[in-house]
Amino acid sequence: MNYNNLNIKFDGSLAILKINRPKALNALNKETLTELEIAVDDLNNNKEIKAVIISGEGKKAFVAGADISEMKDMNVKKAKEFSLLGHRVFNKIEESNKIFIAAVNGYALGGGCELALACDLRIAAETAKFGQPEINLGIIPGFGGTQRLAKIVGKPQALELVLTAENIDAQKAVELKLVNRVVETDQLISEAKSLAQTIAQKSAPIISLAKEAVNFALEHPAAEGSKYEANLFSSCFSTLDQEEGMQAFLEKRKAEFKNE
Ligand code: HXC
Repeated sequence: MNYNNLNIKFDGSLAILKINRPKALNALNKETLTELEIAVDDLNNNKEIKAVIISGEGKKAFVAGADISEMKDMNVKKAKEFSLLGHRVFNKIEESNKIFIAAVNGYALGGGCELALACDLRIAAETAKFGQPEINLGIIPGFGGTQRLAKIVGKPQALELVLTAENIDAQKAVELKLVNRVVETDQLISEAKSLAQTIAQKSAPIISLAKEAVNFALEHPAAEGSKYEANLFSSCFSTLDQEEGMQAFLEKRKAEFKNE
């Protein structure tokens, strides 16, 4: 499939997806979000793929937000549709059986920060900047940012970002646990690939169960989470890869997972 606003490359069991509107600092317009939904659906259905790296084309921006020139004339109904489109796409990332890694190469503002938050892991270039500047435009975050940010960095830090519109640098983002780590800018994609490859060596069904179990923790009380974990844990024992993993340990060799 040829996309107007995305570039996708494949490298074994990894996919590298770049938002490609560098002249508009990769701002998310409806067309880009719609393409992103198609791409995420395709990747989710691709049995060869275990991890997806999302980044932005160009040196300056990951994604500088939703497209302000497109939002400017929206009415209440259109704004709701736009917000719900973003929610649908980002939920597909969050609920995917693949691991999504945001490789944040520059500005991750507004909807761009929200896209990174929907990913499972975030690596930032030293030059990355994060922020929720929506309030300066007379709006609030609308692609899930108020919800995910509060869960990831906690209410006071989330509110500070959302109410002040101030950008933070990559180092501060690590301190807030908004990103997993900061790397040298020219090492960003290779570090993201290396992390993705480490994960991709594991069993696909078990990767997916691990993600599902941890995601569940953020949405449910502990007692429900424990029951859910016990169910997912026991379902590992219906896979060939559990047998292989334990057999390989006992035979003192590296497991050769079949992803089954
Ligand atoms: C549309 C954008 C854009 C955006 C940048 N551009 N961000 N276009 N929507 N979000 C365009 C500029 O208009 C400009 O186009 C070109 O990209 C380069 O940007 P400059 O502003 O000239 O670059 P610079 O001076 O370096 O400033 C970089 C910046 C600034 C600090 C990132 O561009 C900026 O503040 N952008 C907006 C960030 C923002 O407010 N994001 C939140 C959006 S609301 P031209 O044609 O002039 O070259 C949002 C809501 C999500 O995300 C939820 C929706 C439901």
